[in-house]
Amino acid sequence: RIAYVNGRYVRHADAVVHVEDRGYQLADGVYEVCEIARGFIIDMKGHLDRLDRSLSELRMGWPLERSALELVMREVIRRNHVRNGLVYLQVTRGVSPRDHAFPTKPVRPALVVTAKRTDPRVSARKAEKGMAVITVPENRWERVDIKTIGLLPNVLARQAAVDAGAQEAWFVDPDGTVKEGASTNAWIVSKDGVLVTHPADFGILRGITRATVMRIAAEHDLKVEERHFTVEEAQAAREAFVTSATSVVTPVISIDGKAIANGHPGSIARSLREAFFAIAE
Ligand code: PDD
Repeated sequence: RIAYVNGRYVRHADAVVHVEDRGYQLADGVYEVCEIARGFIIDMKGHLDRLDRSLSELRMGWPLERSALELVMREVIRRNHVRNGLVYLQVTRGVSPRDHAFPTKPVRPALVVTAKRTDPRVSARKAEKGMAVITVPENRWERVDIKTIGLLPNVLARQAAVDAGAQEAWFVDPDGTVKEGASTNAWIVSKDGVLVTHPADFGILRGITRATVMRIAAEHDLKVEERHFTVEEAQAAREAFVTSATSVVTPVISIDGKAIANGHPGSIARSLREAFFAIAE
C-alpha cells in the first residue's frame, strides 16, 4: 500500500508524521472519508466543500489547492488499485512546538491521504443482516458540525456498542432526542412512511450521504422531515437506518435491545441503499 504524506508518496508502512504534529498532540485538525465505488469517488464535491468549511472554522488554510488535492486523492486511489473502498484525508495545523495557542510563526498544514480497498460483498452482507444500535448520553462539544479528528467521545461510544454486542451507538440528549451515531447519521421511518432525521444544525455532522439520501428520497416521492425524534419514537418506528460514507445506508434492527418492527431490515432502507448504488455509476 501507498500513502501520501506531506508532498510524498511513501510505502504505507513508512507513512509517519512528526511527534510535534498538532494533530497528533492536540487533535488540531480535520478529516474527510469518501467512498469509492467502481472507481468513482462518490460526491467528492460535497466532501471537499465540507472540508473547506471545517478548515475555515479552524482558521486553517488549504494544504494544497483544491484541484491539486483532488489529483492527490485520485493518485493515491490509482496507486493502491482501489475500485471499491475508501479514501481518507486529514489536514492538521502542522508541526510546531507544543502550545495550545496557534503557532505564531507560519506553519504549513500537514496533509495525509490514504486509500484502502473494501469488499462490496462484505458490506452488502452487513446491510442484509442489519445492525444493532445502543444509545449513549450525548457528551460531545457543541461544534460537532466540524469534522475534526478529535473523536474521543465517538471512540468511547463505539467501543461501548461493541462491548454490548452492537455495531453502532447513538448519542442522545437528556430529553431523549437522538442526535446521530458515533460515525453515522441516524434515521427512522415513521409509522406513516415519512423519513425522519435530526436537523442539520449544530447538533450533528452534516453528512454527505445524508444529503444524497434526501435527494434520492425526493426522486422517489418519499417524504423527509428534518426534526427531532426520541429513542422511544425510534424503537416504535416502522424502520430505522444509518447513513455514512462507510456504511452507505445500513438498516438498524434493534435499539437498546428492542427490535425495530419485526427485527429485520426494512424495505425502505433497502431500496434507498439500492438507489444509492444506482446513482454511483
Ligand atoms: N464518519 N456523523 C458523524 C459523527 C460522522 O463521523 C460521520 C462520518 C457521519 C456521516 O457523514 P458522511 O455521510 O459524510 O460520511 C455522521 C466517517 C465516515 C468516519 O469517521 O469514518
